[in-house]
Amino acid sequence: MKVLAVGDIVGEAGLSWFVSRIRALRKETGADFIAVNGENACGTGITGRQAGELLDAGADVITLGNHAFRRQEIFEELEDNPRILRPMNFAPQSPGQGWGEYETRFGTVQVINLIGRCNLDFGPDNPFLMVEKHLKNHPCRLTLVDFHAEATSEKLAMAYHLDGKVSALWGTHTHVQTSDGMVLPNGTGYLTDLGMTGPKYSVLGVEPQQSISMFRGDPRQNFKTAPGPRKLEGAVFTIDEKTGRCTAVQPLRLEEAGGK
Ligand SMILES: [Fe+2]
Ligand SMILES: [Fe+2]
Repeated sequence: MKVLAVGDIVGEAGLSWFVSRIRALRKETGADFIAVNGENACGTGITGRQAGELLDAGADVITLGNHAFRRQEIFEELEDNPRILRPMNFAPQSPGQGWGEYETRFGTVQVINLIGRCNLDFGPDNPFLMVEKHLKNHPCRLTLVDFHAEATSEKLAMAYHLDGKVSALWGTHTHVQTSDGMVLPNGTGYLTDLGMTGPKYSVLGVEPQQSISMFRGDPRQNFKTAPGPRKLEGAVFTIDEKTGRCTAVQPLRLEEAGGK
């Protein structure tokens, strides 16, 4: 079984690039299951219309992160649509679900969305303890985890924590793809960060001059998504569906032709 995981979709530019490429990508990569992080579809947050477009284009599940609740329009979809997940360790009164089970021709695939706490809000519950407890109550041979976190140490620690207990774990949130894709000793496929899907010439998706301006200390502006050619980043995890073990991790980077 091949799982394609796609990094944070940024703005309409990222959304339309994903939508236009995903059918071909499914063919090229042989992906049987597609997970995409959609927390930046609006820059910050995602609307129901955008989630619908990602799912209609072929995503099997949308995961989110620290921007999950920026747009209130998504609350209803989070409650009603099991294919849109928000981090499981958010406060229990939060709308929606942090994990889901999906039927595929290989059997049930479980997807879990978690958020880290290093350099992020410290409001969420401890993801290490929560996922440990969850997997005891809900074991599933084919389990995939999107760990939305800032710190590489927290992501690596979680990967070793879950090694052999889940088929694959990838990081999202930093918007920069790492080059450490590997299969851990007990069979979990891992990549510290998938990267992002959005404008290539940008600061994590944002128009560079605006970001420079913020770091200079200029009066704050609302961030805009940068124009120009786009990139799509993610990874393909090959999983032995009989054992649930990952056998290969292949990072993926596509760039749209054209200059700035
Ligand atoms: Fe994030
Ligand atoms: Fe993000």
